[in-house]
Amino acid sequence: MRYPEKLYRHARQLRGLDLRDAFAHDAERAQALALTFDNWRIDVSRQHITVETLALLREYAQEIDLPNWVAALFAGEALNVTENRAAWHTALRQADGVSVSGEVQRVRDEMKALSEAIRKNHYLGATGKPIRAVVNIGIGGSSLGTQLACDALYREGDFDVRFVSNIDEENLRRVLIGLDAETTLFVIVSKTFTTEETLSNANAAREWLNDRRDVAAALLDRHFIAVTANIERARAFGIAPESILPFWDWVGGRFSLWSAVGIGIAIQSGWQTFQAMLNGAAVMDKHFLETPVAHNVPMTLALIDWWNTCFGGKNERIIVPYAHGLRLLPSYLQQLLMESNGKRVDWDGNLLGKESNERSTVSVWGGVGTDSQHAFFQWLHQGMHQANVELIVPVAYQGKARHSGLLAHAVAQAQALMCGRDGDDVADGLRSARVCPGNRVSTMLLLPDFDAWQFGALLALYEHRAFIEGVLYRVNSFDQFGVELGKMLVRPLRDALESNIELASNDIDTATQAQLAYIRHFWKR
Ligand code: F6P
Repeated sequence: MRYPEKLYRHARQLRGLDLRDAFAHDAERAQALALTFDNWRIDVSRQHITVETLALLREYAQEIDLPNWVAALFAGEALNVTENRAAWHTALRQADGVSVSGEVQRVRDEMKALSEAIRKNHYLGATGKPIRAVVNIGIGGSSLGTQLACDALYREGDFDVRFVSNIDEENLRRVLIGLDAETTLFVIVSKTFTTEETLSNANAAREWLNDRRDVAAALLDRHFIAVTANIERARAFGIAPESILPFWDWVGGRFSLWSAVGIGIAIQSGWQTFQAMLNGAAVMDKHFLETPVAHNVPMTLALIDWWNTCFGGKNERIIVPYAHGLRLLPSYLQQLLMESNGKRVDWDGNLLGKESNERSTVSVWGGVGTDSQHAFFQWLHQGMHQANVELIVPVAYQGKARHSGLLAHAVAQAQALMCGRDGDDVADGLRSARVCPGNRVSTMLLLPDFDAWQFGALLALYEHRAFIEGVLYRVNSFDQFGVELGKMLVRPLRDALESNIELASNDIDTATQAQLAYIRHFWKR
């Protein structure tokens, strides 16, 4: 699809824009290109855009009726067209008692009761001892969001919640170190209850319990809880009906931490914290749904992201939180953005990219500041690629005394990306290696503080951006068929390895055959 001519024309006019000149010629730029939500300041003045760019992008948003798409999302319409499902995660965080449906409220009540019983030592294991540690077994959306939230919101004295996701046995082995079977509760989180990694770890956890105690009959009842949309499968695994927390088909895996999938957050940090997270997300939802395009923060940021991808040639998006508690944010966003929008056909099944600047999402990666400054920032400052860098900076994060150092680093990096360095201060022969060209784009999200409310609002902001970007790319952000392929191929290969059976050579390519042969040769059971 060809985008409106005026966007192409504007992109041509902006080619060669130098941010340093733009600031030098426009004293208002820093204020004119700042967005606000609550008391956040979102600085987009260091993007390769102007006030006119925003006006044109917002005009395009109206032309393609973005507000109507948002209304459809919140109305629970089946926007996941390939699977004929809604993507109704916003329904999970509506304010208490206002419009939460009966079923959502019922599960919320169960989560609250369960998490409080565990935290107050009222929930007892099979031998009558209170639970001391909870192990979340799940992968992808059934782990990443909860793990990020637990890390971000952790406070000294919080309940011990740990995570196992990888089928590599080393993951479970390390997590179980120091745990006592009698006081450990496993939460098996899987929407489908068919995910191999999760079931394999759940079975291994069951064996670990069996090995350590002789009250086997009560094992599953008291030491296993399931969170799933597939109740039948969870029951077939042996989990008691009263130990199953349901969620629903209309909750996508990567959008599910607001459902019972997030029970680990309530257990670790308490119900109030979980509720505050929902409230923060609900306020962002309201803003997204009700604010006109001109002041709509998720919509404006998504338009800028799309502009960078389709008109700015920036194929990398780098996420750098300046908060230790947000160190897992890049991995979480990798799934959210790349699983949602890593697509090659539009929602009508047409191949993207026929027009030269049609793209779906870029690659997303990053790491925590300041550590990343000593790793990939060199590439950002002097490498040959142009990337879109996003710095997330909570200003009074837990009131830490040494926080000024961290904040100064964040501000300095954004400054360095734009200003660069000309190297004039060194002798000629050494100069070129020291030059940092500058004029590199960044967005800075400045948050006044960091708590569960802000965290909820932040994640909702990213979810909405992913959705709007998907609409702009014209892809279905809510399926992930690419992930299925690997899952389908794995079974015959595992069977072949376990039984030492040769796969028929016309079934597999010679590279696969050679890899299997190597593995068989060196694999020590
Ligand atoms: O990674 C693919 C995926 O389907 C994700 O979307 C999902 O979050 C994850 O696998 C786990 O799936 P399940 O919750 O069904 O175990």
